Amino acid sequence: MPRLFPDGFLWGTAVSSFQAEMGRGEPASASDWWAWVHDAVNISGGRVSGEFPEDGPGFWELYPGDLRLAKEELGNNAVRLSIDWARIFPASTEAVEVDVKNDGSGSISGIVVDEEAMRELEGLADVAAVRRYREILSEARRLRLKVMLTLFHWPLPAWLHDAVACRDDVANAGRKGWLDEATLVEFAKYAAYAGRRFGDLVDLWATVNETRIASEYAYLRGEFPPGLRDFDLFMTAYRNLSAAHGFGYEQLKRWAPSPGGGGTKVGVVAVLQYYEPENPDDPRDVAAAEFNEYIWNEWSLNAVTRGDYDMDLDGVAGPGERLPHLAKGCDFIGVNHYLRQRVRHGESRLGEHLKGGDCSDIGWEIHPQGLRLVLDWVWRRYRLPVYVTENGVADASNSKRVRYLLGYLGELHRAISEDGVPVHGYFHWTLMDSYEWNRGFGTRFGLYRVDAATKERVPTRAVPVYREICSSNSLP
Ligand code: FCB
Repeated sequence: MPRLFPDGFLWGTAVSSFQAEMGRGEPASASDWWAWVHDAVNISGGRVSGEFPEDGPGFWELYPGDLRLAKEELGNNAVRLSIDWARIFPASTEAVEVDVKNDGSGSISGIVVDEEAMRELEGLADVAAVRRYREILSEARRLRLKVMLTLFHWPLPAWLHDAVACRDDVANAGRKGWLDEATLVEFAKYAAYAGRRFGDLVDLWATVNETRIASEYAYLRGEFPPGLRDFDLFMTAYRNLSAAHGFGYEQLKRWAPSPGGGGTKVGVVAVLQYYEPENPDDPRDVAAAEFNEYIWNEWSLNAVTRGDYDMDLDGVAGPGERLPHLAKGCDFIGVNHYLRQRVRHGESRLGEHLKGGDCSDIGWEIHPQGLRLVLDWVWRRYRLPVYVTENGVADASNSKRVRYLLGYLGELHRAISEDGVPVHGYFHWTLMDSYEWNRGFGTRFGLYRVDAATKERVPTRAVPVYREICSSNSLP
């Protein structure tokens, strides 16, 4: 008996702008990430791979062929893309006046972008970049691919974040990115403008991709720009990235028309890992796994959906931590899910993350049941429609991808059909191999390999398998 998915289920692949665009004659991205991966100190220190995104798959130019592959070869009916803020506004928008309200405690509580501000933003936007993004989105729609578009999939304009200066001396650096609340104001302007310019071509908007990874890897793990390890800075960025969702949501609701009618749909994308105690009978392992779940999976979604900003991490939003005016709405939750993390207690509350098991090329443990468990969890807790916005495997030898896909999709089907979780779509990460951030090109998540010299897309063995699933809307 084939296992059917609900009618209208979205089947797609996900691609991000910084990772996939470059490689064919496009202008450089004037972003912090661009500066970061080219910085000589980062390269010699091994913080980044020394490979460059301009050697990437070249989606900027080759998008018609890629979207055709998604539609015709993969049988997709949807695609998840992102736009690069720094391409749209390569120079500062700070001079554009908007009305910024404070909540009395010194925090920003409201941002109003009016028609006059919109006219000024229009004057500052890069005409060629906007035109190209409209061409990409129009081509997707022409192929009848529903479009999910993410506003912030990690690069910040360099005029907002001097990551190298922050790495070297954050206290005295001038442009501090998400450490600075003023970035929220610029994000609201960008969201308003993107909503107005692209809204007629977008079915689903995602504000921020993975508030958690964007702040953890930048401020705790020291890998992403600005490469710091400081818990207080991490919490500041985590807070501001969570608040950014609300301000983006509000602007998109105001400025983005919805092409199909029925209202503009705006959600956030969270990475949810499945945390399992190494020994379920040891309360210390259980407590450590629960704390991981709280800080990484739950904290930011509580902020986004309820305005609970538990800054002291005691598990409750106490006085001064309850900011409901920042929870401006969330129409769906996008779930990025890749791995199980087994946890043993240790010196810190987070305990130790155990390695081993059946892993991908980068040590992420393959454990399909985790997908069902996090989908159940997110639905029980937040009662919002769900999309799986990323799921995939780093597998250069292409020996695991088919098994991974079938295993995870089987669990997705159970979450929908047996547990009643309203999952409306699945986007595989990713269409073709692309630039995996600080890891470069060796980490291969693509359904298609990319020949570095010719840019030819070569299908992996997972392509016919995924095509069969997408085009029949079912699992064999
Ligand atoms: C996610 C990112 C995505 C990609 C995958 C492997 O955390 O959103 O851009 O790097 O991991």
